[in-house]
Amino acid sequence: MDKTIEKLVSLCKRRGIIFQSSEIYGGFGAVYDYGPLGIELKNNISQLWWKEMTQVHENIVGLDSGILMHPRIWEASGHVNAFHDPLVDCKQCNSRYRADEFGEEYNSIQWDTIQCPKCGTTGKMTDPRQFNLMFKTHVGPVEDSGSVTYLRPETAQGIYVNYQLVQGAMRMKVPFGIAQIGKAFRNEIVARNFIFRTREFEQMEMQYFVKPGTDDDIMKEWKEKRFQFYPDLLGVDASKIRFHEHGENELAHYAKEAWDIEYEFPFGWSEIEGIHNRTDFDLSQHESFSGKNLNYFDQQENNRFLPYIIETSAGLNRMLLTVLTDAFWEDTENNRTVLKLHPRIAPVKAVICPLVKKDGLPEKARTIVDGLKPHFKVLYDQQGSIGKRYYRQDEAGTPFGITVDHQSMEDDTVTIRDRDTQEQTRISSDQILSFIQAKMN
Ligand code: GAP
Repeated sequence: MDKTIEKLVSLCKRRGIIFQSSEIYGGFGAVYDYGPLGIELKNNISQLWWKEMTQVHENIVGLDSGILMHPRIWEASGHVNAFHDPLVDCKQCNSRYRADEFGEEYNSIQWDTIQCPKCGTTGKMTDPRQFNLMFKTHVGPVEDSGSVTYLRPETAQGIYVNYQLVQGAMRMKVPFGIAQIGKAFRNEIVARNFIFRTREFEQMEMQYFVKPGTDDDIMKEWKEKRFQFYPDLLGVDASKIRFHEHGENELAHYAKEAWDIEYEFPFGWSEIEGIHNRTDFDLSQHESFSGKNLNYFDQQENNRFLPYIIETSAGLNRMLLTVLTDAFWEDTENNRTVLKLHPRIAPVKAVICPLVKKDGLPEKARTIVDGLKPHFKVLYDQQGSIGKRYYRQDEAGTPFGITVDHQSMEDDTVTIRDRDTQEQTRISSDQILSFIQAKMN
């Protein structure tokens, strides 16, 4: 594992952000649990996305569909037949790889000339085999072929099969979108790089239903909007994100055009979000498999058509890894580790510290906590030296440290310390709320 990622993994464990699943049993591959600060950070990110989609855009509405669905949906979507990854094994050390790790044109590779990256043996690699990524399960007490269904590998299909119900109930007019946040599951062959590729993860997907012919222009608009989300709302360094267009060999079975937004992780440029033109592939498949007419009736033009779909599909966990990686800073000059998270997404916005545990300072600090906590998450800390208290919070990404000292008792002011610059300013305690809110916005 990359050194920076290793440090991040250990920081995440130490500070209650992310834990390996089932640790006391030796761990469970490629599943992670989110601790008290991790869930706050995850919620802050997903709420930003949700607000951006369903509040800022009046023509986008939300949905929460089931993880388990009718198994025919996965035949119609193409996942039963086409959702495969190519797998190769080293017969010497039994290491397993995705064949495309050795090159996108993996079908033309002479596998008997390839060296195993782990044990170094040449000539022991198997030819690629296709491996379906869906988790199979059984519904009901009898485990036969009639009871098989799958844990959803993407949230998108739940939107497609509900699209007419949503459109009718909300009287939506094309173009309109449906947004959903939820768990997805993929039996990934190799899971590497911490929470980048896991077997259980969350997607934030928005399906935008458009009139055929308008799809290319609308695709461009969504590409632009989604790209800007990273620097503008999450505070990610704009020089570390870029687009990658899918070539013919990379395109998923449903896509006419696809772009990835990539981030420059310590392990290389990698996808964090996909924007896809899925045409009418999914709706026409569901029409033929369900026998239901899924046309949209355009009242103004008095005609019917099957909408095209522009999809924006982001992984919440990957977005979280992006902001953590981007924020991770080893401030060697001051011998501290800092998560420079934007105040908008930081799990805790401020720590409130009485300078000493006496003279009425703790009580005054508590009054400040009480005034702030209805607005956002804050912490009270009176343990250890003030420097130690600050450094503890720097590592957790808390942007502001507020100290109540003896002067506070005289003139009702406090010092407010900036995590990144470590500069302290003195403000009146009735200005703390608006000060922090301004920084968040
Ligand atoms: N509905 C389209 C779709 O699912 P995708 O490119 O397979 O497209 C979209 O996935 C996003 O979901 C990715 O950009 C990534 O952020 C996230 N994702 C996919 N597989 C993942 C995994 N195994 N672990 C974590 N995130 C994953």
